[in-house]
Amino acid sequence: MDKKFVYADNAATTQVDPRVIDKMLPHFSEGYGNASSLYGLGQRAHEAVEEARKKVAAVINAEPKEIFFTSGGTESDNYALRGMMHSRRAGGRKHLITTTIEHPAILQTCKALEKEGFRVTRLPVDQHGLVDLKQLEEAICEDTVLVSIMAANNEIGTIEPIAEIGKLCHDKGVYFHTDAVQAFGHIPLDVKAMNIDMLSLSGHKINGPKGVGAIYIRSGLLLEPFITGGGQEKGRRSGTENVPGIVGLGEAAYLKMTEMEEESTRVRALQRRLIDGVLATIPQATLTGHPTQRLPGNCSFVFAAIEGESLLLFLDHMGVCGSTGSACSTGSLDPSHVLMGIGLAHEVAHGSLRLSLGRFNTEEDVDHILEVLPQVVARLRSMSPVWKD
Ligand SMILES: Cc1ncc(COP(=O)(O)O)c(C=O)c1O
Repeated sequence: MDKKFVYADNAATTQVDPRVIDKMLPHFSEGYGNASSLYGLGQRAHEAVEEARKKVAAVINAEPKEIFFTSGGTESDNYALRGMMHSRRAGGRKHLITTTIEHPAILQTCKALEKEGFRVTRLPVDQHGLVDLKQLEEAICEDTVLVSIMAANNEIGTIEPIAEIGKLCHDKGVYFHTDAVQAFGHIPLDVKAMNIDMLSLSGHKINGPKGVGAIYIRSGLLLEPFITGGGQEKGRRSGTENVPGIVGLGEAAYLKMTEMEEESTRVRALQRRLIDGVLATIPQATLTGHPTQRLPGNCSFVFAAIEGESLLLFLDHMGVCGSTGSACSTGSLDPSHVLMGIGLAHEVAHGSLRLSLGRFNTEEDVDHILEVLPQVVARLRSMSPVWKD
């Protein structure tokens, strides 16, 4: 294998598509205008931002005026939760419902809201990571303002029943936000058909740039401004627009929309090859997440008697980039809250590996992983005092 390494961590971030870079570059050089300036240079930047807004809106069947650009998924999640809860505070409604397996951008924001006096219910999930609709229905009460449930999980790839959740929230008269950072551009999403009031998305998970994202906010839904200042993004999110980033996000979204069917079919075939190969060649390996209702590229496992961190280091040495737990919390030795959330024991959750495939992966990549992973697992187990074959 002459390839230097196999990148299989597309759920953490993705390589920017060269077609996206091509669209962005002119906005660093000759097209550097401030999108709020009235002269031609500024107006051309403004037009590029509006073009990107249309492209992002089209992916989720939203209106362009319902899309607001942010610095990424984390900011969009913060805005959705804080903006909604703060705006409804005066009415005395203080309850928010989420799940135990959300990204920290949601969970930590919920903690902060609790400190401010809001009440949060965290719904459990089943062994595959699915939310139970009956439990959700029972949790909704008089003072519930908002339900925030992710479209797909970043660690185990499980796709939640978003359309059913949206319908339930709509029928019960509560708002529904979904963190679609992992799902956007990878699976079809339709904010109208799915009754979604707010949706978070991010550029760097869809072969676009880092540090840019967006929030969809249903037309007519009033939220306090998140960042105050010069009144950009219709006063909701002030700050000079990141024009190259926004253009990159727009192009990445456009490419995902036009290529989603073909790409997801191709990536799903790679995913199948990898999952089947791992389960066939490595003893005591278990797939985590839903067996079928999962994101196209996500292959997540736990291996008995393995430490995820050691596995990652060995794999890195063998030219494979993957992750254990959530990339955002790598560096901490706490077991993943998602794996704990689906009911795994501490010691089992420690042996997790997420390999996430994407646009630039090939069959050759999968075969390379299937060649090295069984060797690495066997080597680590041979050194483990707890391994029994
Ligand atoms: C489900 C989910 N939500 C939010 C985020 C945060 O997005 P960003 O990195 O754009 O801030 C991530 C990133 O890993 C994610 O996977």
